[in-house]
Amino acid sequence: MLYLSTTMKGLEDIAMNELKTLGAKDFKIMEGKIIYHGNEHFFYRANYLAKTINRVVIIFSMENFENLKDIKRIVLNSDLCFKGTFGVTTERHGKHNFTSIDVNAIIGEALLQKCPDTKVKLDDPDVRVLAWILDSLFLLGIDTTGISLHRRGYRIKKHPTSLNSVIAASMIRISGWRKGILVDPFCGSGTIPIEAYHAFKGIPNMWRDFAFKRISFFDEERWEKTKRSVKIKRGEPDVYGFDSEKKYIQNAMENVSRANAKIICGKGRAEELHKNIRNVDYIVTNPPYGLRMGNRKKIFKLYEDFARELEENFSGTIMVVITPHKKFEYYFDVLEMRNVLYGELKARIYKLKI
Ligand SMILES: C[S@@+](CC[C@H](N)C(=O)[O-])C[C@H]1O[C@@H](n2cnc3c(N)ncnc32)[C@H](O)[C@@H]1O
Repeated sequence: MLYLSTTMKGLEDIAMNELKTLGAKDFKIMEGKIIYHGNEHFFYRANYLAKTINRVVIIFSMENFENLKDIKRIVLNSDLCFKGTFGVTTERHGKHNFTSIDVNAIIGEALLQKCPDTKVKLDDPDVRVLAWILDSLFLLGIDTTGISLHRRGYRIKKHPTSLNSVIAASMIRISGWRKGILVDPFCGSGTIPIEAYHAFKGIPNMWRDFAFKRISFFDEERWEKTKRSVKIKRGEPDVYGFDSEKKYIQNAMENVSRANAKIICGKGRAEELHKNIRNVDYIVTNPPYGLRMGNRKKIFKLYEDFARELEENFSGTIMVVITPHKKFEYYFDVLEMRNVLYGELKARIYKLKI
């Protein structure tokens, strides 16, 4: 079966590697998208376990087209059929003499024609039909996820600049951490430590629901079997989170507890990290950017002081950091750098050796 998953631009290879470990194969990478093959039950497993993708879509057609008539023909010839209500959303890239709304309408028309037990419902339908028009390529599928997978459901306490959990999970993978001490010295609401803990233990996405439950071919037995097949790793990892703000540490502790994680959280300034912990193997972190919180000058001073602390007390540690600034490039050996588009913000993920 053909699938499409979306992820953050710049993290496609990380998502591909995770999907591979879950059993997917034959990958094609596009900007922010991965197309691949998996068995007919793969979507249960991917939604439950994947941490570096936003969505799992079953693809029913992937074909070149010239006009709207072709699109209608492709939909009519596809195997896509289901019972219940549906809505159509199209993402269009390229120059065309029609709009996404025209495409939605033509797909809707074709589906009503070929599947007798369906009805259009724009608000909260049973099935979300998703289409992509990428220049002359047309892709048609149905969403099995619902709200994006980055919404894990464990975050009961919010943070004004919390990190997207898909990015956090990808940073953990980039770090290469499997064992040893992992610390986030700017942990805010705890996203990075929680994602690290879940990655270590193999904890699934169990705080949320999935759209596949409302699709007419949902197989409850298969879903239960998928959940039972997940084995949580024994043993506890060494994961720590610190933040200079007491209220964020309290929030992080509540999120950690909700996420069934065992993480040591404490108050502390990153510029004096050694007072809280030593012999750190990995630092994975998301320091303030100085865009929304505080100003640039203050932030650069913080980066300088933090870099000095690392140099003096954490030589040899691997650090993965997300920031829009280049500062750390000048202080440490850059093992890897990638650009990621994070909402409107262009940020960089660095893997550095202190
Ligand atoms: C971008 S936020 C981190 C958000 C976090 N990744 C999350 O998902 O909630 C940066 C955090 O750094 C903290 N911070 C600012 N200056 C600090 C310092 N000198 N030492 C430690 N933490 C600091 C802020 O309180 C804030 O919570």
